[in-house]
Amino acid sequence: MNHPWRQTLHVEPKTGWLNDPNGLCDYGGVHQLYYQSSPEDAAGGGKKCWAHRQSSDFFHWSEEETVLFPDIPEDRSGVYSGSAVVLPGEIRLFYTGNVKEPGEHDYILSGRQANVITVTTADGSAMSEKQVLLRNSDYPADCSCHVRDPKIWREEGIWKMVLGARTRRDRGCVLVYHSQDLLHWIFASRCTQPDFGYMWECPDFFRVGGQGYLSVSPQGLTHEEYRYQNVYQSGYFPVEGKLEEGKLGAFTEWDYGFDFYAPQTYETADGRRILYGWMGIPDAGYENPTTPLGWQHCLTLPREVSAGEDGKLLQQPVRELERLLSAPAPMEGAGELPKACVLKLTRTQPYFALTLAGGLTLAYREETGVFALSFADKALGGGRTKRQSRGMACKTLEVVADASSLEVYLDGGRQVFSTRFYPESYPVSYTLTGGTGSVFAVNL
Ligand code: FRU
Repeated sequence: MNHPWRQTLHVEPKTGWLNDPNGLCDYGGVHQLYYQSSPEDAAGGGKKCWAHRQSSDFFHWSEEETVLFPDIPEDRSGVYSGSAVVLPGEIRLFYTGNVKEPGEHDYILSGRQANVITVTTADGSAMSEKQVLLRNSDYPADCSCHVRDPKIWREEGIWKMVLGARTRRDRGCVLVYHSQDLLHWIFASRCTQPDFGYMWECPDFFRVGGQGYLSVSPQGLTHEEYRYQNVYQSGYFPVEGKLEEGKLGAFTEWDYGFDFYAPQTYETADGRRILYGWMGIPDAGYENPTTPLGWQHCLTLPREVSAGEDGKLLQQPVRELERLLSAPAPMEGAGELPKACVLKLTRTQPYFALTLAGGLTLAYREETGVFALSFADKALGGGRTKRQSRGMACKTLEVVADASSLEVYLDGGRQVFSTRFYPESYPVSYTLTGGTGSVFAVNL
């Protein structure tokens, strides 16, 4: 029997630990999903591998298979994050081979190799021989040993790569490389922002409606009351002109909840920009009680990204989710929820509150414009407390509840809050004030 906290709609590891989504692509109409995995250690120790699954509808997945292991000298301490490019008859994957050298090192300024490595696969799982493309000596001299997470795309008739980096003076930045053949790469430029963290992980560049966006996961931002509340952040900059010119606009966080980091996007054959995040975060002070049970973490739902009128990006659960929904049932002031369900709610009063399992509350106050997700119960949230944002009208909320997670999409996805939660029993009870709406059970 599956444990009650096992997710229904979200990808999670069979055993062990999961972190970043990697190598996302649509290969002949099939969504290929790779992710960082430590199959033998739910606490995240052990060497990182890539696990693989595929699906043609985002919800029915093939069995998890570990497909990339640290087995050459250049990736011996871990097959770190990276991305995919689809070519005729094959997928070409790029990742960072992490190497920690023995000896007395801080592993920031010395003792670490970060190698960009490529492999190809015709079926998504059987891999060619590994080929090393870039080594520490290929990065600008002012970079520390922290350079990683290649993401590649094609533009202006060439291939481009972004890498996340930390300079020797602790400044986060993105390095841009160019190539004609995907194998030989030349440093082109870098993007950075003053006073914006010491390391930028997992960069991604993409366009929505012609506008370019650079997504990064910065470490070292100063925490604020309504922004940057987690230990590390993830968000995007609109890019003015060419990425190589380095003109970045205002940074917007992808998600304001407790559990979101290291997202990656890709484009489907029908032209949608899909984003997956890791529904987890490194070095967070809170816990996931599945760890002693042998597994930890999951990915977010796949989200469709589109541009709002003001250029801010909107996120919505992939439309394929709609096909799984049963007939709506109206929500009353109190009741019970099916284990996996979607709530579509409209706020009708200046004060709105939805409480789940007696201890997790989503609340909005028109007077202040503050939306908050807070736990009153330590066990339910594994030590999570409160996350909040300002500036939303909070007219509509779409909540996707799975066995042990919640994703809240405010005002058509202008802001999203993701969190894990661990109910003691099911069905989960709710109380609702200041709003109306329906609950749709998910049939999977
Ligand atoms: C982000 C990250 C990446 C790295 C990977 C290792 O969570 O630190 O920068 O490639 O995880 O698992």
